[in-house]
Amino acid sequence: MPVFAWKGETLEEYWDCTLKAITWPDGSGPDQIVDDGGDATLLIHWGVKAEKDPSFLKRKPSSEEERVILNLLKKTLKEDPKRWSKVAAGVKGVSEETTTGVHRLIQMAERGELLFPAINVNDSVTKSKFDNIYGCRHSLTDGIKRALDVMLSGKQAVVCGYGDVGKGCAEALKNERARVIVTEIDPICALQACMAGFTVATVEDALPTADLYVTTTGNCHIITAEHMKKMKDQAIVCNIGHFDNEIEVARLKAIPGIKIVEIKGHECPVHMYKFPDGHCIYLLAEGRLVNLGCATGHPSFVMSCSFANQVLAQIAIATRKHEVKVYRLPKELDEEVAALHLEKLGAKLTRLTQEQADYIGVKIEGPYKADYYRY
Ligand SMILES: NC(=O)c1ccc[n+]([C@@H]2O[C@H](COP(=O)([O-])OP(=O)(O)OC[C@H]3O[C@@H](n4cnc5c(N)ncnc54)[C@H](O)[C@@H]3O)[C@@H](O)[C@H]2O)c1
Repeated sequence: MPVFAWKGETLEEYWDCTLKAITWPDGSGPDQIVDDGGDATLLIHWGVKAEKDPSFLKRKPSSEEERVILNLLKKTLKEDPKRWSKVAAGVKGVSEETTTGVHRLIQMAERGELLFPAINVNDSVTKSKFDNIYGCRHSLTDGIKRALDVMLSGKQAVVCGYGDVGKGCAEALKNERARVIVTEIDPICALQACMAGFTVATVEDALPTADLYVTTTGNCHIITAEHMKKMKDQAIVCNIGHFDNEIEVARLKAIPGIKIVEIKGHECPVHMYKFPDGHCIYLLAEGRLVNLGCATGHPSFVMSCSFANQVLAQIAIATRKHEVKVYRLPKELDEEVAALHLEKLGAKLTRLTQEQADYIGVKIEGPYKADYYRY
């Protein structure tokens, strides 16, 4: 199977690889896409947009990455001005792996811009409540330890965001006996963090004392350049959300007089940023996903749950006709994915009696919960 990726890619290389991965030898494209973060889907949608309205490519890019994508699209459209409409017309559907990619799909569907059906794999319970929580609980500290071999016990750690990923990260750091502070914008998640025993405060509150910052929000500008100027000497900063814009890396690099020292190279990127006042911080994985940049991501057992959902979604796309909407997999399949993984762990399910099933109003063979149940 061809692989269009390598560790330490530049942005240009990453997007060239994305283009190659969705370009068939005869110039056509895929009929089904398994996406993670929505980049392949975004390239096709932006390509179609640019074909319809060439001024789309002339707008001022809002980030370095956007500049790279717009340049790539300019190149592809010069070669074939109808390339992306042809590719989009051939796509029967996409199944999307992660929170950030699903946000993009839902936004496109709401704006009426979605070009093909999409299955939201992230919100299968056996994906987000496993990969996002337990996967990150495993791989966050793996990444930090491989990067710096630092003692986490006793350190003050700030976890920005207490969604699924944040919950896993906060628990991992708590298990290391770090002293964990959580930041949140959502009162429900903030209250959950309090009830789990964490201090809820703001990044600004934590700046004088915190040793480690982890962003998990899927949102931008969470750790700003101004924050990093005020951090403790040798504070560690990393991100486990999908994009590198949670930490203002570009603005950090642009601070006049800042010195950047590479501590470790692209196999496990660690950079020291020395500020003109003499203090320094360590940035892991250049602000990209620390569990992938500095470690090897989630272990295969939890990814097996995620990818079982991806396979079921791909079968659904291949075998059923869907309207152009964002779907989720039915709960029966979610329960099946969980059931398939139980044996490996030596777990034995209790089987309902008919009387019990009737009493709680479910079938003996499931599904056992209503769609709105939150787990
Ligand atoms: N690295 C990985 O292996 C991995 C795995 C799964 C998901 N992800 C990515 O992690 C990110 C988070 O995913 P999730 O499933 O936890 O999403 P989520 O929506 O469950 O959680 C994000 C949380 O961040 C909070 N938040 C938003 N803006 C904030 C701000 N300014 N300050 C503090 N908190 C803020 C939200 O209220 C929310 O509770 C996404 O980008 C997702 O794609 C990464």
